[in-house]
Amino acid sequence: MKRTRRLRKTGIIRDLVRETRLSMKELVYPIFVIEGQDIRREIPSMPDVYHVSIDRLDEEIQDILNHDIQNIMIFGVTDKKDSCATEAFVEDGIVQRAVRRVKEITDRLTVITDVCMCEYTDHGHCGILDKDGYVNNDATLKYLQKVALSHAQAGADMVAPSDMMDGRVAAIREILDENGFVNIPIMAYSAKYASSFYGPFRDAADSAPSFGDRKQYQMDPANYREAMLECELDIEEGADMIMVKPALAYLDVIKGAKERFGVPVVAYNVSGEYSMVKFAVSQGLLNEDAIYESVQSIKRAGADIIITYFAKDLKKYIDRY
Ligand code: PBG
Repeated sequence: MKRTRRLRKTGIIRDLVRETRLSMKELVYPIFVIEGQDIRREIPSMPDVYHVSIDRLDEEIQDILNHDIQNIMIFGVTDKKDSCATEAFVEDGIVQRAVRRVKEITDRLTVITDVCMCEYTDHGHCGILDKDGYVNNDATLKYLQKVALSHAQAGADMVAPSDMMDGRVAAIREILDENGFVNIPIMAYSAKYASSFYGPFRDAADSAPSFGDRKQYQMDPANYREAMLECELDIEEGADMIMVKPALAYLDVIKGAKERFGVPVVAYNVSGEYSMVKFAVSQGLLNEDAIYESVQSIKRAGADIIITYFAKDLKKYIDRY
């Protein structure tokens, strides 16, 4: 007799046939390093994520290692800002000092740095402004080169340009190679959308634009094909991996990029995606398992690497699954 009953997925059988499994190895945990002393302060817009001063980085790094996190991304928070983001590329800038400190504390973490100018410009935009208030793409490139080079010189293992200027991957590859950093890969924020889900981050990094928005250089959330084009151009310019950001509202873009390109696909599970779940869990509106479910969906869509503020929370699920 023909039977159509499906496998009853209970207990160990369910474990055996599970198609998607997260691993700590593929997660990247972002950290926010702040000027000042003796600070380890929860960021109000991002529960359980901290602003940490350099002198207290060892505590944070120990906690990260205790959770088996293997990769971190460093963001700098400073009030030293000017029109050309000098603090972003000087030798003793906040990120450069933080990278050196982390490398002193441990050799067990891959250190990735975000290459952008918005946290260091007094106007909060991601590049150099023209008189008319528009970001000048080509003038910005040479500054991004300086930022990326200074991160590599400080000891970063990989640089991740998040500015969305055209031609920046090639420009950064060139300057790194010229200076002997041929083995430092570039993780390109390729399909970065002009998203409302960055709100909590802009509070955390003090990087909201003082006027206007980033729609001139970030992508329109309506566009899928343009995302594929941006990925293709970045790969041509020498990107070692391509990123889709945000993640949850763009799972189709992650899937498309994975099917289409041979390089690793990175997804940035951004601050808004984090905080909405965290706050809902803390209010009792969602069961805590929503954390695993949401990040798992990003993996199922095809992400090879996931940048997520949930990395510490995920440890206990990963051990169980
Ligand atoms: C810098 C940058 C941003 C994020 C990462 N790098 C902010 C932005 O573009 O406004 C957002 C990360 C997040 O929301 O978690 N350009």
